[in-house]
Amino acid sequence: MQQILITGGAGYIGSHTAVALVNAGFEPIIIDNFSNSSKQALEGLQKILGKSVKCYEGDCNDRALMQTIFKENSIQGVIHFAASKAVGESTKIPLTYYNNNINSLLILLQTMEENGVKDIVFSSSCTVYGQPDELPVKETTPRKDAESPYGNTKRICEDILMDYIKSGAQARVVALRYFNPIGAHPSSLIGELPLGVPANLVPFVTQAGAGIREKLTVFGADFDTPDGTCIRDYIHVMDLADAHVKSIEYLAKQKDNFFDLFNVGTGNGNSVLEVIQTFEKVSGKKLNYEVGARRDGDIEKVWANTDKVTSVLGWTPEFGLEEGLKDAWNWQESLNK
Ligand code: WQD
Repeated sequence: MQQILITGGAGYIGSHTAVALVNAGFEPIIIDNFSNSSKQALEGLQKILGKSVKCYEGDCNDRALMQTIFKENSIQGVIHFAASKAVGESTKIPLTYYNNNINSLLILLQTMEENGVKDIVFSSSCTVYGQPDELPVKETTPRKDAESPYGNTKRICEDILMDYIKSGAQARVVALRYFNPIGAHPSSLIGELPLGVPANLVPFVTQAGAGIREKLTVFGADFDTPDGTCIRDYIHVMDLADAHVKSIEYLAKQKDNFFDLFNVGTGNGNSVLEVIQTFEKVSGKKLNYEVGARRDGDIEKVWANTDKVTSVLGWTPEFGLEEGLKDAWNWQESLNK
């Protein structure tokens, strides 16, 4: 069975990707430092899969540990999620973000090369587009200076990967530019882990629905959109996980020294108010919210053109906003038990 190393594999998208990999006949191996995840995710995986997933506790910046992992296993490919990812936090501790997010990629690429492992799927983000001049946004839409150090680390990592391939490296690379991941596995055994006050909309909404947060603040309703609130492309985490499996399978068919990148979104944009209304519909809860000031750095509207990921990877989203919010709410209710 082909082994795939998932860095940050106990995290939100990583754990869902572990399930998708097993379902596709791969053997995932996880490395995670549990700085933004919990061992509860490993228990959830065990229950879903009926077997445990091998996990190394540690940091991708630990070169010796990374070498050990490659020596002790027969890894065929890597999916690299491990990174610090809070936009707001990154503006406060940029050096930590640059060190963690960039060094971990460099050490991973060097370790892969030393061990003859070529295939890597890199977790990038639509944040590299900033506020696009064209919508829906295509992979060829020019990237802009990101609004945060976090976004800059994603753009820099894409550049590192492109330069690495241009240098003639044997590696085969796919970068996936995620839009806004939401939801949880239908079993509610894994999901987005709430560490502190959620920065992202959907976990805040589900916590407000559960009475954990008193009120949701809508960050601005004076944007140039139909209802005045920001528009995003909310993609179910199970669909996003599937895109990673299809990327691994795609890489296995490519020649050495290969690079490609894909937008991974639904192709639909929904406003904050539409998320609130849809949440109320699927949960039966009335959400307590108020409109407040805009949040620094927020872009007005972005959603994906998904022609390329559909035509090249053969991937299309199975779930929409309703299923994403329903699964997010079920997960929240399971946490409250
Ligand atoms: C969505 C919309 C907010 C909270 C970021 C990163 C992206 C990825 C996902 C890591 C915006 C509004 C939010 C709230 C609100 N991160 N909102 N009240 O900012 O689009 O994307 O997270 O991979 O890279 O950029 O996601 O969920 O924070 O915000 O009104 O309490 O919800 O203004 O319009 P965002 P988000």
